[in-house]
Amino acid sequence: MDGNGRWAQRRGLKRTDGHAAGEEALFDTVEGALEIGLPWLTVYAFSTENWRRPLDEVRFLMRFNESLLLRRRDDLDARGVRVRFIGRRGGRVPNRVARHIADTEALTARNRRMTLTFAFNYGGRAEIVDAVRAVATQVQAGRLDPARIDERTIARHLYAPDMPEPDLVVRTSGEYRISNYLLWEVAYSELVFTDVLWPDFRRADLFAAIREFQGRRRRFGAVDEPGA
Ligand code: IPE
Ligand code: MG
Repeated sequence: MDGNGRWAQRRGLKRTDGHAAGEEALFDTVEGALEIGLPWLTVYAFSTENWRRPLDEVRFLMRFNESLLLRRRDDLDARGVRVRFIGRRGGRVPNRVARHIADTEALTARNRRMTLTFAFNYGGRAEIVDAVRAVATQVQAGRLDPARIDERTIARHLYAPDMPEPDLVVRTSGEYRISNYLLWEVAYSELVFTDVLWPDFRRADLFAAIREFQGRRRRFGAVDEPGA
């Protein structure tokens, strides 16, 4: 969800006003996703690198994410949305925020219409490091033979092992980077880049990205079937 700061600057507003304006973009996108029956939607809300931002902005983002959860969770629950978080739980995440995260996950755990995952205090490399640690612990305990470690072993130890790898990743705000997002999982994802700044993003932009995705041919390293 990139471009909040630039959106605000262009209007002579504070960067944090841009984050606040991103809420409407998120929930219009969620509505659109529900409308078309998208089963999995994951959004990058706060990265492990975002701690480097000015303290005021970091504090705003923590409070904002917390209040957004509290204000929206009953509505999401009523709509059959399962809310989940991927990322490091401890570290600098305030305890109160961590508690609201756990409560929201518990509240919505049985919903099946859509899974809305927030990548929060998330880094793709950190996720791989955490998976490797868990695997190493198993080896050390004598429960796993290193020779038997394969890609599925790593995948099983990611933050959300049941989450399918994304078919499509949309990056907003005219940046052409992955920025440490779902590094393991995006190996074969289709990437769509748009100049739209996140606060201006609406369901129509999601639908446009999906139409672009539908025009792609995915070969997963193989070749096209003859006549396909
Ligand atoms: C929002 O956009 C992303 C978050 C970390 C919340 P930015 O704050 O990165 O906006 P730009 O890139 O400065 O425009
Ligand atoms: Mg940015």
